[in-house]
Amino acid sequence: MAVEFLVRMRGVKKSFAGVKALRGVDFSLRPGEIHALVGENGAGKSTLMKILSGAHAMDEGDIFVDGEPARIGTPRRAKELGVGIVYQEFELADDLSIAENIFIDRLGAHGIVRWRDLYERAQRVLRNLGFDIDVRRPVGGISVAYKQMVEIAKALSANARILVLDEPTAVLTPNETEKLFAAMRSLKEAGVGVIYISHRMDEVFSVCDSVTVMRDGEVTGGGRIADFDVDGLVELMIGRKLSTMYPPRTAAVGGEILRLERLDGDAFSDVSLTLRKGEILGVFGLVGSGRTEIARAVFGGDGLRGGKVFVNGAEARIRSPHQGKRRGIALIPENRKEQGLVLDMPIKTNITMTNIRKVSSRLGVVSAKRENGAVDELVRRLTVKTRDTRNPASTLSGGNQQKVVIAKWLNTDAEVMIMDEPTRGVDVGAKVEIYNLMNELTARGAGILMISSELNEIIGMCDRVLVVDKGGVRGELPRELMTEKDIMKLVVGGHGS
Ligand SMILES: Nc1ncnc2c1ncn2[C@@H]1O[C@H](COP(=O)(O)OP(=O)(O)OP(=O)(O)O)[C@@H](O)[C@H]1O
Ligand SMILES: [Mg+2]
Repeated sequence: MAVEFLVRMRGVKKSFAGVKALRGVDFSLRPGEIHALVGENGAGKSTLMKILSGAHAMDEGDIFVDGEPARIGTPRRAKELGVGIVYQEFELADDLSIAENIFIDRLGAHGIVRWRDLYERAQRVLRNLGFDIDVRRPVGGISVAYKQMVEIAKALSANARILVLDEPTAVLTPNETEKLFAAMRSLKEAGVGVIYISHRMDEVFSVCDSVTVMRDGEVTGGGRIADFDVDGLVELMIGRKLSTMYPPRTAAVGGEILRLERLDGDAFSDVSLTLRKGEILGVFGLVGSGRTEIARAVFGGDGLRGGKVFVNGAEARIRSPHQGKRRGIALIPENRKEQGLVLDMPIKTNITMTNIRKVSSRLGVVSAKRENGAVDELVRRLTVKTRDTRNPASTLSGGNQQKVVIAKWLNTDAEVMIMDEPTRGVDVGAKVEIYNLMNELTARGAGILMISSELNEIIGMCDRVLVVDKGGVRGELPRELMTEKDIMKLVVGGHGS
């Protein structure tokens, strides 16, 4: 007989060294339900799910699986109970093949690996998800989107009936996101319960049946998604109404500050553009379009083969990030975990290390007072959730780590800011604060190159947009002519249809 709830969690509490991450959380999941779990960065979403998957032990509370009390002490026990989880951070072995990764927990369980069988099964699981890729390929060489799918296939191949996806679409293109949603819907038909964590409200409304909202370690509301609207959810998430998502642009656009002339590189060719003082120039492109490579070439000379870069009218021969910085360029990287943050260093040091001069006295001694002032201001504005900025960055939630990288680069006097997906994984309240900061920077005369795959944000914040696809600029639109349709037309045009 079918049970009413696959999972019920009651009064779950969890603290980390005095920080109350969960203060008595109730959560339930029904079979065949796609259940959104939303809330500010640091609200406790990942922690709750890590308890369900056996990665963390709870301090207090009860968990029932299929109506029976369950003691989930270890990841192994969670798997036996049918819990599959795809974490915010990937956990794949790059040197193993896709197939080996999918069946990693059961490799050699009976001594012999039957490779043909293994490959066939792996291929089947992925094909059912709508992805066809040679499963013999090593995971190290495939795109992030495929890695995401491998993680999901891995969870499903263990016969998960309860599937947790922690911000799975952050790295997917719209097309891949649609495939993932289709896969989620067919799992739902099969009676699987899916828990879906996302900061993208449009996705939550398009794919989820129900929702639980968390804030500060507590549940602030929830129910059927049909009973909510975006404003209502946002208010439950951040505890106040958001008057506007995109603050008005008022900075005056001045003379040229950055010019790229026919840049050629490994992943792009013949890229020319001009960025002006006070301007936010959008670079719209999907994952894999070459946009990130262009940004890295301008900032650090990475993979640059030809062409010229001019800063303030003078040619800048940039061969390293250090030279880029000296020319007044800053890059907020897309891959913040790897390029942006030193996880075991204090939050504070992570923010100030790009700009030691700003916080030191003339003799070069770091002034604790100035350091704290600058850091506190950014931490407060971006609502980085931490008790003490002397704690290591590793103690922050995923989204709060991203905010620290953003704060680090905003804490420079750079005239040219290149922002690669600046709001990805960041909660709605902090998004607005990042947009406000962008407005302030441009009002001070900085020029911003904002790379984004979110059309709403491009249309909401940019003075002009360039569409990038397959390593080249496919077209340009001024603010007055920016519509979703016209931007997408330029992308599609590049595909020759
Ligand atoms: N290993 C840890 N050590 C110390 N504190 C932690 C640890 N993991 C999480 N926390 C704290 O617990 C709280 C909840 O974090 P959690 O990762 O669950 O948030 P989240 O809702 O998933 O946020 P995000 O949207 O940013 O991913 C945060 O205050 C975070 O700093
Ligand atoms: Mg999280």
